[in-house]
Amino acid sequence: MGELLLDASRWVAFSGGMVETLNVSLGARSYPIRFGADLAADVRGEVARLTTAGRRIAVLTDQNFARAQAGALRVMFSEAPVLTVEPGEGSKSLAGLGRVLDFLAEQKLDRGGVLFAVGGGVIGDLGGFAAASWLRGIEFFQVPTTLLAMVDSSVGGKTGINLAAGKNLAGAFHQPRGVFISTALLGTLPPREFAAGAAEVIKYGLLGDGALFASLEIAPLAVRSADLAAVIRRCCTLKALIVEADERETAREGGRALLNLGHTFGHAIEYAAGFGDYLHGEAVAIGLGAAAGLSRELGLVSAADVARIEAVLAAHALPTRLRTPLPLAALMAAVARDKKVRAGLPRFVVLKKIGEAATREGVALGLAEACFRAIGAAG
Ligand code: GLY
Repeated sequence: MGELLLDASRWVAFSGGMVETLNVSLGARSYPIRFGADLAADVRGEVARLTTAGRRIAVLTDQNFARAQAGALRVMFSEAPVLTVEPGEGSKSLAGLGRVLDFLAEQKLDRGGVLFAVGGGVIGDLGGFAAASWLRGIEFFQVPTTLLAMVDSSVGGKTGINLAAGKNLAGAFHQPRGVFISTALLGTLPPREFAAGAAEVIKYGLLGDGALFASLEIAPLAVRSADLAAVIRRCCTLKALIVEADERETAREGGRALLNLGHTFGHAIEYAAGFGDYLHGEAVAIGLGAAAGLSRELGLVSAADVARIEAVLAAHALPTRLRTPLPLAALMAAVARDKKVRAGLPRFVVLKKIGEAATREGVALGLAEACFRAIGAAG
């Protein structure tokens, strides 16, 4: 797949350009992503519309957001029932799913009920999977509150939880009915979380937009960057294009799997370190460096390209090596369980150049092991 071009015709501006909407076109499952500095009133309007129509709503969030943005939660949801779970990957578990389903039962949500997932990637994945499972599927909205969720996980309908056997191994494709992206919420995001989100932004530059990558080289993204909102919209546009073309990741080559650039390595790191030790974006950052190294070993990109990629990751306060060595055997076992495995062989996403990615089958296991050793694996 070559670089993905922005299609201006898919954007709709409201209120003199203050709120913009990007439509994700998936037939009956299409939905809008709304962008603005503060969409609390828009979320409140959606809640009012639903409750006026007699539909029960429920809210899932985490303790960090509930503490940092208690006012925003009140404005958006007023007296609606809220389940607040512990932040972090630990909540994205079978037990965590059970808690959310029990909460939906307590709140007596019927098939017209609607769940709002208000948080980062963990809350979106967990809430989305609960919505996909409860009564065999109810509607849900994503209200992402982290950079990572705004640029990636809230869009595209991948939901799920981690199992003892690996990352995101149980889940469902379940598209939200809408996504509300309020960039002002990033004002209270801890720097480590912001950096983790930047890893996914760098991923988009690498897989589909060399100009975005180059802009990150010139000026690393920060919460006060003048172009932060534009960068978020750009990442969502790239994601919408890819998801519309391959919603359920069934393309034989390329397609939605490209969004997993760095993730085969990254998910293995999260698994081998124990879920929650690395933030997802931190593991992806190390994985992007490893994927770049693999691409160089395959003769696709140069050592200078790899150095550029590592420099951009470092400029965003992201790791490119493991903090402490992880056992190679555990990392390779996780690769073997990756969802991209076909006929028992791992499939990696590699770079053809900065701004263009491809899937590659039949990568020798020894080469993957060498890439893990290069980032600090032991064994
Ligand atoms: N985050 C990868 C995907 O949504 O496909």
